[in-house]
Amino acid sequence: MEVKRAKITAVGHYLPEDRLTNHDLEKMVDTNDEWIRTRTGIKERRILKDSDKATAFMGAEAAKEALEQRGVDPEEIDLIVLGTVTPDYLFPATACLVQKKIGAKNAFAFDLSAACSGFLYALSTGAMYIESGRAKKVLVIGTDKMSSILDFTDRTTCILFGDGAGAVLLEESDDGTGIIDQRLYSEGDEECSLYQPAGGSLNPATKETVENMQHYVRQDGRSVFKKATLGMADVSLEIMERNNLEPEDVAWLVPHQANLRIIDATARRMGLSNEKVMINIDKYGNTTAATIPLCLYDWKDKLNHGDNIVLAAFGGGFTWGAIYLKWGIK
Ligand code: ACO
Repeated sequence: MEVKRAKITAVGHYLPEDRLTNHDLEKMVDTNDEWIRTRTGIKERRILKDSDKATAFMGAEAAKEALEQRGVDPEEIDLIVLGTVTPDYLFPATACLVQKKIGAKNAFAFDLSAACSGFLYALSTGAMYIESGRAKKVLVIGTDKMSSILDFTDRTTCILFGDGAGAVLLEESDDGTGIIDQRLYSEGDEECSLYQPAGGSLNPATKETVENMQHYVRQDGRSVFKKATLGMADVSLEIMERNNLEPEDVAWLVPHQANLRIIDATARRMGLSNEKVMINIDKYGNTTAATIPLCLYDWKDKLNHGDNIVLAAFGGGFTWGAIYLKWGIK
């Protein structure tokens, strides 16, 4: 039986206009541009300031751009899978809000929570609907308004993240390109090294949770750094070995943008030179589920049909993984 393969046929993005630079942050917390640049690679990030706009708005804008690029009517979309840790509401799903905003009235839509691996998990899920023949056109979206869960008095976290969204359209491949292999992992983190303590069913919002700043990201940076460096490098090497890829066979590594040092360690482990690594952390910081599609968007004019591409991420959960695909847009 012939196996169907899913390929990315369009990429869209959304970035808020407002920039928050390291120098701006120097005025807000006890930090400095040099520390942030050398420890993380970040120079500035985007912040969505409009109080009436959030994660669904950004996701919808990114999705609209992808659909326009491919000339696809929103009513042709069968499924929307959306990765986020900053949904507009705990429920309904942000994917349903996007569905409404873009007019994808024939789609079913759901969110998926895998933190910084959200886009990889969503891409893997969306691809399987195409591979099984259950869907013909799938929108996969990574969108996060991280500024909504950042404590701008905590220098250890507020410097790391930014807001943004990316979206890809998945369709069946007819030319051998598309998603070839994937390895996804999880390891429940009972130590809570990276989490938002309150707002869920264990610690619902109270006056105390608000006063104790429990609705913001908390991270034990050092321990997450160690796990992320190992996890992302290991899984990237694993996907190369499983597919008999030598460093010269890989055209691009598209890494989650959490920290330049984690990205460098992954590239080194894969034997890739810097020119083959997509890096835009300097401009946008860590946009959580949006980093990988934002890279694909920024580099789309440099990608050639048939290029071997490895996507890799590590995030809260813990969750991590890698996807190997052949670029399918001509
Ligand atoms: N400015 C100046 N100094 C700072 C700042 C800051 N913004 N933040 C921390 N420091 C200080 C610390 O207090 C510490 O001081 P001390 O030595 O006197 O105690 C010193 O700098 C070093 O702190 P570390 O935490 O050891 O710094 P590190 O080199 O580990 O960098 C960082 C911190 C950037 C957070 C890093 O640990 C990291 O990138 N961690 C992983 C992030 C990640 O990958 N997360 C997963 C994805 S995110 C998601 O899933 C949502």
